[in-house]
Amino acid sequence: MTDQSEHTFDGAVAIVTGGGGGIGGALAERLSDAGARVVVCDLDADSSRAVAEGITERGGHAVSFAGDASDEDTIAASIELAERTFGPVDYYFANAGVAAGDGIEPSDDVWSLALDVNVRAHVRAARLLLPGWLERGRGYFVSTASAAGLLTQIGSAPYSVTKHAAVGFAEWLSVTYGDRGIGVSCVCPMGVDTKLLHDDAALSPLAARAVTTAGTVLSPRDVADCVLAGVVTGTFLILPHPDVLDMYRNKGSDYDRWIRGMRRYQNALAAADAQTHT
Ligand SMILES: NC(=O)c1ccc[n+]([C@@H]2O[C@H](COP(=O)([O-])OP(=O)(O)OC[C@H]3O[C@@H](n4cnc5c(N)ncnc54)[C@H](O)[C@@H]3O)[C@@H](O)[C@H]2O)c1
Repeated sequence: MTDQSEHTFDGAVAIVTGGGGGIGGALAERLSDAGARVVVCDLDADSSRAVAEGITERGGHAVSFAGDASDEDTIAASIELAERTFGPVDYYFANAGVAAGDGIEPSDDVWSLALDVNVRAHVRAARLLLPGWLERGRGYFVSTASAAGLLTQIGSAPYSVTKHAAVGFAEWLSVTYGDRGIGVSCVCPMGVDTKLLHDDAALSPLAARAVTTAGTVLSPRDVADCVLAGVVTGTFLILPHPDVLDMYRNKGSDYDRWIRGMRRYQNALAAADAQTHT
């Protein structure tokens, strides 16, 4: 069930965090293809600049902004840049994310990083944007969470916990402000072919294999197309991998059975790993 309204991108102003590559880079490019003017934000100044320049070279409108998407002053500065350059922000894509550590072992600093980037960044951005959106009677918040936020992330407690929190926050925003013109979508992909999935420093090998074995690994561009199609129709839960809906239903219909199944899956992955190392 969607909110029935059609949302358009032509002439709209969008901010994309984590826009320097991966899903965020593809979102920025597809938004521009659809006529939006885009502020491409990333911690990595070179990558956000490259994405923004690529867009402008193809005739689109984009500026880059380097900074931490979880820092309140930085978020405020990116909103100010968008307003000054293009006009009021219509869409905020809270997409930057980190895959923080293995098991429950990560230090409190790593947990804090995951909580900051994967959750508090969303809360802080929404807090800054909502007053203007409510005054205008419109605005749209898109959260890139993960299938790990509906199911779990084998191998990483911080990622599982923070992505569940991101889903919870997006739900709350939609329930609380959906009748006042604020759109919210929550994107929950499984595997996507990006640095986050393949960089050993991000997800542990077990966690990455749990994702790649569970289903198709999509391209960032396919995910971006799916996200924009979902936003146009005001769909809350955007599932680039449709199978996730069945998995989520199975979890809801019999939680204990689902947990037993996940344990079996984890054991099978560990056994396969042990075999390749003997
Ligand atoms: N790749 C997958 O399989 C997958 C699956 C489900 C969800 N996701 C989510 O998709 C989102 C995008 O990840 P991706 O797969 O494109 O990975 P990616 O590593 O290619 O992109 C993430 C981008 O975020 C930037 N970033 C990290 N911390 C930041 C911060 N504090 N402020 C600003 N920018 C920051 C990085 O520099 C990078 O450019 C993340 O939220 C991730 O959790 C990814």
